Amino acid sequence: MLYHSPISGDRLRIGKFCSIACGAKFLFNSANHILHSLSTYPFPLFYEAWEHGLSPREAWDNKGDIAIGSDVWIGYEAVILAGVTIGDGSVIGTRAVVTRDVPPYTIVGGTPVRPIRGRFPRERIDALLEMKWWDWPAGRISAAIPLIQSGNFEALKAMF
Ligand SMILES: CC(C)(COP(=O)(O)OP(=O)(O)OC[C@H]1O[C@@H](n2cnc3c(N)ncnc32)[C@H](O)[C@@H]1OP(=O)(O)O)[C@@H](O)C(=O)NCCC(=O)NCCS
Repeated sequence: MLYHSPISGDRLRIGKFCSIACGAKFLFNSANHILHSLSTYPFPLFYEAWEHGLSPREAWDNKGDIAIGSDVWIGYEAVILAGVTIGDGSVIGTRAVVTRDVPPYTIVGGTPVRPIRGRFPRERIDALLEMKWWDWPAGRISAAIPLIQSGNFEALKAMF
């Protein structure tokens, strides 16, 4: 987590069963020097030195929270920017820079990220999003693990 200032109050929400590789970074709103002003210099932070009366909050563009769904795999040294939502079941490739929302069950990569492919056909994605196996009680998940692991979608669906 980088550039996370308590005065910005932005948050990172991470779902269940996510895998986050080493070097993955989340850049929060305090990283976003304002772009509509005539200077990117963060004058609002130096209120004592410059006596301008601006609030430190005015130093950054606020793009919102970062939200990661469940069963998301974030690759080595990926960078996720403020305001981004990553859907359930997605895969973020190594060294990806995620600037926009990622739809569920999509593999993305590159700078900025582009879809590489969907993980499953639309119908299966919709069914998995409805099932939300990650919210099942632990005992039911344990029983389902062999089906999840082997990709036995029909048998998993039958447990729903
Ligand atoms: C994204 C990823 C999951 C794709 O795996 P895959 O589907 O087996 O990938 P493929 O090798 O078949 O490549 C598919 C295409 O995506 C491209 N691609 C793969 N990884 C990419 C990445 N990180 N960034 C950009 N493009 C990528 C390939 O060049 C290929 O493009 P092409 O079809 O134009 O030739 C994988 O490449 C990756 O980045 N894994 C993360 C590994 C990691 O960081 N692990 C950390 C430990 S948990």
